[in-house]
Amino acid sequence: MAGEEAVSNKQVILNDYVTGFPKESDMKITTGSIKLKAPEGSNDTVLLKNLYISCDPYLRLLMSKPDRASVLGSSKPGSPLHGYGVAKVLDSTHPNYKKGDLVWGFTGWEEYSLITSPQVLIKIQHTDVPLSYYTGILGMPGMTAYAGLYEVCAPKKGEYVFVSAASGAVGQLVGQLAKLAGCYVVGSAGSKEKVDLLKNKLGFDDAFNYKEEPDLDAALKRCFPEGIDIYFENVGGKMLDAVLLNMRLCGRIAVCGMISQYNLEKPEGVHNLMLVVGKRIRMQGFAAGDYYHLYPKFLELVIPAIKEGKIVYVEDIAEGLENAPAALVGLFSGRNVGKQLVVVARE
Ligand SMILES: NC(=O)c1ccc[n+]([C@@H]2O[C@H](COP(=O)([O-])OP(=O)(O)OC[C@H]3O[C@@H](n4cnc5c(N)ncnc54)[C@H](OP(=O)(O)O)[C@@H]3O)[C@@H](O)[C@H]2O)c1
Repeated sequence: MAGEEAVSNKQVILNDYVTGFPKESDMKITTGSIKLKAPEGSNDTVLLKNLYISCDPYLRLLMSKPDRASVLGSSKPGSPLHGYGVAKVLDSTHPNYKKGDLVWGFTGWEEYSLITSPQVLIKIQHTDVPLSYYTGILGMPGMTAYAGLYEVCAPKKGEYVFVSAASGAVGQLVGQLAKLAGCYVVGSAGSKEKVDLLKNKLGFDDAFNYKEEPDLDAALKRCFPEGIDIYFENVGGKMLDAVLLNMRLCGRIAVCGMISQYNLEKPEGVHNLMLVVGKRIRMQGFAAGDYYHLYPKFLELVIPAIKEGKIVYVEDIAEGLENAPAALVGLFSGRNVGKQLVVVARE
């Protein structure tokens, strides 16, 4: 019977817990086997053929040995990595999913995944946009940009907005949403190519290469002579300290992530935090997953904007699971230009 025979299943396996910067050799490619059928007798199982997997910075946090500070859980050495992806349902015993459905959500870094209790699998309704967008602008990073900017910071027309890691999966959308809200938007990124992209393709008002700025405070003063109302924080460290010096009274900081700290044994301190008091700054961490109830509203905004060319999205696409470790590791040296994803299979 179809599905009874086991087929080979290429996987990206975590070798061991990681310390410091991740390396390609922290992962290996192996080939297991899997039956392309949801187990009989189950009522909550979905068998997926993975099409795209998403390289996201938080995956590095899952690779660390879990400790009391871990809130995200952890990957298991010897097992495939897990993260967001786009997949096709091959078989299902779960009432909400049927064969042929396209979904985005939590899956494995492998060709086929058997998902039990698929809490985070969202059915894809709009297929007249690139399917790969559901790893980025139409998936978790898109919801991150939307929730962090609109829900956490509530931008008003004319406000000054600064975005770090601005050309990445989240940042490029934050900047464009802030422009749609009528704000003045500046981004920082780590190369001339990325700065050009921000200014010439993604519609930022200004941008700078933080790696070529000996004095981040001076760079921000140059870009924001009147100060910053909203900071969308993606990197932490020295940039956060410089931003605090330049925030305006009653400014808001959406703390989305701090990628500059993820590989450090000992996180850097933040020296200018006291300014939060005098300047009445509201600084709020948030997680995209807390806002998924707003996903339909988000799609109503963003899908027409994509189709009308009012929002563009830059992707960096690696081909094949063999190239997934390099793609993931590349996030931490800024090798990706735009949203980094990996093609596992074409539909
Ligand atoms: N809170 C949430 O729910 C949530 C969800 C998704 C993502 N995030 C966070 O959002 C941030 C951006 O994620 P993303 O998916 O959009 O990634 P991304 O920007 O597409 O890729 C990561 C980028 O970070 C920059 N970077 C790497 N190391 C850095 C360092 N030491 N200092 C400064 N910049 C560095 C690099 O760009 P440059 O070339 O510009 O350096 C790199 O391309 C991350 O902090 C991530 O953890 C949070």
